[in-house]
Amino acid sequence: MTNPFVHLLPVYPMIAKQILDDYKITDGKCLDIGTGYGYLGLELAKITNLEMYFVDINPEVLDKAEKNVAECRLDNIVHFLEADVCSLPFEDNFADLIISRGSLWFWKDQIKGMQEINRVLKKGGVAFVGGGLGRYTPDSMRKRLQGMGRMAQIKKGEKGFMNGKKLQEFVDKTGITNCQLIADVKGQPATWIEIRK
Ligand SMILES: C[S@@+](CC[C@H](N)C(=O)[O-])C[C@H]1O[C@@H](n2cnc3c(N)ncnc32)[C@H](O)[C@@H]1O
Repeated sequence: MTNPFVHLLPVYPMIAKQILDDYKITDGKCLDIGTGYGYLGLELAKITNLEMYFVDINPEVLDKAEKNVAECRLDNIVHFLEADVCSLPFEDNFADLIISRGSLWFWKDQIKGMQEINRVLKKGGVAFVGGGLGRYTPDSMRKRLQGMGRMAQIKKGEKGFMNGKKLQEFVDKTGITNCQLIADVKGQPATWIEIRK
């Protein structure tokens, strides 16, 4: 099977660096929700001491994530968990950092998923949930990737996708406070939700 994420490989380290630069969370527990092949979580693990939980509803992609992580020879403690974001198998106030890229658009109950993330996030922790290419991706690469594959489908208005005003209306419905929306490019509609609990 061809790797559906291959065109995004240069982008994951840049998003990981953004997360480290912005939140400076280098230790503790990190959940990568809807991890897919594990690329964002593993790039973040490489530059931190975070104990990583790679979480996905699909066991097949988790197998792939486990292989990819094993190839990186990380020193971090790592876990792989098959779970639905709408009922996360973690206690309240569990994680120091929660990341989730490109998964929100697929959740059956997006409000419940965000509420679960907020529940398992520690007080003082940060969640960064949404989609996009991050702010460090060069313009030329951003243009090329936005015309390709899933990014193009999303641009065409795939079900579940939200940005800008629609994303803010969604956040308001979750009842979660201390959220702000983040855009990859200044002046463009936001595609990420940041929770600081
Ligand atoms: C487009 S992929 C993104 C993968 C990865 N985060 C990335 O950026 O490369 C979306 C992932 O979300 C997962 N997913 C969809 N619904 C989910 C749910 N309810 N709970 C957990 N994971 C889910 C899918 O199985 C898939 O692996």
